[in-house]
Amino acid sequence: MSRPTVFIARRVFPEIVEGLRAHVDVRTHDGDAPLSQPELIAALQGCAGVFITTSEKIDETLLAACPALKAVCTMAVGYNNIDVAACTAHGVVATNAPDVLTETTADFGFALMMATARRITESERYLREGRWNHWGYDMFAGGDVHGATLGVLGMGRIGQAIAKRGHGGFGMKVAYHNRSHLAPEVEAALGATWMSLPDLLRSVDHLVIVTPYSAATHHLIGADQLALMKPSATLTNIARGGVVDDAALAQALAKGTIAAAGLDVFEGEPTVHPALLALRNVVLTPHIASASVPTRRAMAGLAAANLVAALGAGPRAGKPPTILNPEVLARAGAPGA
Ligand code: 8YV
Repeated sequence: MSRPTVFIARRVFPEIVEGLRAHVDVRTHDGDAPLSQPELIAALQGCAGVFITTSEKIDETLLAACPALKAVCTMAVGYNNIDVAACTAHGVVATNAPDVLTETTADFGFALMMATARRITESERYLREGRWNHWGYDMFAGGDVHGATLGVLGMGRIGQAIAKRGHGGFGMKVAYHNRSHLAPEVEAALGATWMSLPDLLRSVDHLVIVTPYSAATHHLIGADQLALMKPSATLTNIARGGVVDDAALAQALAKGTIAAAGLDVFEGEPTVHPALLALRNVVLTPHIASASVPTRRAMAGLAAANLVAALGAGPRAGKPPTILNPEVLARAGAPGA
C-alpha cells in the first residue's frame, strides 16, 4: 500500500519533520510567512494530511478544493481557524493540541499581567532611552498584584492554571466568568467565585482573558464593557485577537478608563492597531504565550502524532490522541486503514 503524503504548512522542528517521514511522505513549506489560501490549496493537491498552525484557514472552500484530504492537525489548542463542522461533513479528521501548553501559557499570562501592572516594559524603555536621571516617589508606580482581585474570563485549563498561580502564589482573590461553573471542589481549591461578566468587570483589579474565539465571543470586551472596569484595573489578553475590540481598548487606555493592558494577541495580527502602538501603557508581545522550547516541541509532537494516527499509521493508528470530531472515525472506521 502506498504511503499517504502530508503537507507541513509552516517551518517546524526538523526532528518532528524527520519523525513524520518514518510513517508518511512529507512535503514542506519552509517559510515562516503563511501561504495564501490559493497557495495552500495548490500545495495540498494529492495530500491526505496537513500540519498547520493558527494562521492557515481550513474552511469549506479549502476542503471542497482538496478532495484527497483526510486529516487537518494544528499545533495549537485554539482552532477557530478550522471549520470543524465542515471537516466532519467532508469526512476529514480535525485535531488540536491541548494540555501540553497549559502551564507554559499560564506562566506567560501571569508574567504579562505582572509586567502590565508593574509597568516593566514602559520603565525599561525609559531607562534604555537614557532618560533616567532622578528617582521619584511615584516613578512608574503601578498596581499591586499580590492580594489584588484576579479576574479570569474563560475558566478552562489555562484559566484554571492562571487562577492557581494567583490564589496559591500571590494570595489573590479569584473571580471568574465562564459559560459553565466549575465543580464546587475545584472552585474551593482555586479560591474562585463565579460572577456574571458585568460583575466580574466591575470587581477585578487584573482581568486575564483566556476564552476561545468564536462568533459568540467576537468583541466580548468592547467600549461598554471597558467602561465598567476600575480606572486602576489592567486587562491582559492571551486568548485571541477579536475577543477584545482593539480600537475600543486603545481609546479606553488613552482616556484612562482602565490603567493598562498586556496583549499577546491582536485583531488582524501580525498587524497591530496603530493606536495601540502609540500608547505607553500597553505591553505588547507577538503571540508567544506558549513559546517555551519544550512546550513548542511538545505541541508540534502532538500535532504530528495526531496526523500519523489519523492517517492510520504509527503506534496509535486510527486513534489520534486529541481529535475534535471523533464522529468522523466512528462513521468511517480508521481512515487510511
Ligand atoms: C500557538 C496558540 O503558539 O495554541 C494556541 O491556540 O495560540 C499558540 O499557543 C500558536 O498559535 C501556534 O499554532
